[in-house]
Amino acid sequence: MKILVIGSGGREHALVWKIKQSPRVSRIFCAPGNGGIAEIAECVDIKADDILGLADFAQAQGIDLTVVGPEVPLVAGIVDLFEEEGLKIFGPSQAAARLEGSKVFAKNFMKRWEIPTARYAAFSDEKAALAHLAGHTYPLVVKAAGLAAGKGVIICRNQVEAEDAVRRIMSGNMFKDAGKSLVIEDFLEGEEASILAISDGKDFLLLESSQDHKRIFDNDEGPNTGGMGAYSPAPVVTDALSRQIADTVIRPLIEGMADEGAPFKGVLYVGIMVTQDGPRVLEFNTRFGDPETQAVLPRLKSDLVDVMLASVDGRVAGMVLEWDPRACVCVVMAAGGYPGDYAVGAPISGLDKVSAGAVVFHAGTRKDTTALVTSGGRVLGVTAMGEDVAKAIVHVYAEIKKITYEGMHFRRDIGRKAIGRH
Ligand code: AMP
Ligand code: GLY
Repeated sequence: MKILVIGSGGREHALVWKIKQSPRVSRIFCAPGNGGIAEIAECVDIKADDILGLADFAQAQGIDLTVVGPEVPLVAGIVDLFEEEGLKIFGPSQAAARLEGSKVFAKNFMKRWEIPTARYAAFSDEKAALAHLAGHTYPLVVKAAGLAAGKGVIICRNQVEAEDAVRRIMSGNMFKDAGKSLVIEDFLEGEEASILAISDGKDFLLLESSQDHKRIFDNDEGPNTGGMGAYSPAPVVTDALSRQIADTVIRPLIEGMADEGAPFKGVLYVGIMVTQDGPRVLEFNTRFGDPETQAVLPRLKSDLVDVMLASVDGRVAGMVLEWDPRACVCVVMAAGGYPGDYAVGAPISGLDKVSAGAVVFHAGTRKDTTALVTSGGRVLGVTAMGEDVAKAIVHVYAEIKKITYEGMHFRRDIGRKAIGRH
């Protein structure tokens, strides 16, 4: 089979790496890819949001299956376009991708289907949103409704901060059209976890749990980032909790979306807050998480292409996934300055010294004429396995020591929360 993976980050490198292990695959393309992906796949210079260009390429090359990494093409309707053209593609339709593309849709959907989430109110009028703040308890959370590349969530400690957030999102145009409406919701306390499930619109398979680290500094301090590391499994997600999430969140979602005429196919990402009152949904994404994917896929023993084809063809019922029982930890190495302004073009050295038991997924790298150089805020995701999380942590940080580039920084506590629980 010929496979096309769309995207250019660490998540896509992990997808290409895993898909390439399938005996079904003869050729694998990535659009646009990055410096690391180029070592294992044929990179094509088409941007992830150029859905017409991608469909033309898939037709011309006779691609058998396309896999979409990021959310933007999904929300733009790439799956509908490919299906109209008779091309197989793994992912949700535009209507189903509203679960990620519109937080107002997602919250209203959860209310309709009684899926546990924070209490909220949705607004498209600034005055009404501001008026709502007066009677609220604090902290509270203000969220731009549309896609904001992970930056659209503002936690506000008091009314002054909340008014400022509402104004910045609405009249301040901070997130452009994504801020035309917003959600104001209760602040939830607890530990976060990420749950992935693959569905064909009727049935679903749960993947193993994981946990992201969103803040830039150790001990979850400093501003939010795209994700500074992840590990799997996440012990906060016990078997009982996993069943509870399947029963109270995922099954009602799959049934509800089908009932509303927008069956959910592809991979669903559920961001969960494990509160004292049980699991609550923080957000849905309609794609693999980044960097969770880098920590989950190395543990998957089953053929990912089989699973994706089952999703596309409606054969998920009865499928079972096989997992490596070991733990996996992925530590993101960032560029100096990230998540603020950062420099690019720094030569990276030491990758050849990384041991065969570890894998380095590239997030923001590019092949220069002579060397591999940094090209993004998140540069590499160094990933290693271990008998348990503690051993995987020791392994991954030993590998990181071998890699250098100017300005590099990374968190030193990825996975520590899991150890505290043992
Ligand atoms: P989201 O993009 O909706 O997942 O939000 C990004 C991050 O903001 C989450 O991973 C949480 O850390 C935090 N967050 C979002 N909603 C809430 C909430 N209701 N209570 C507490 N933290 C939240
Ligand atoms: N790791 C969070 C996300 O992929 O949105």
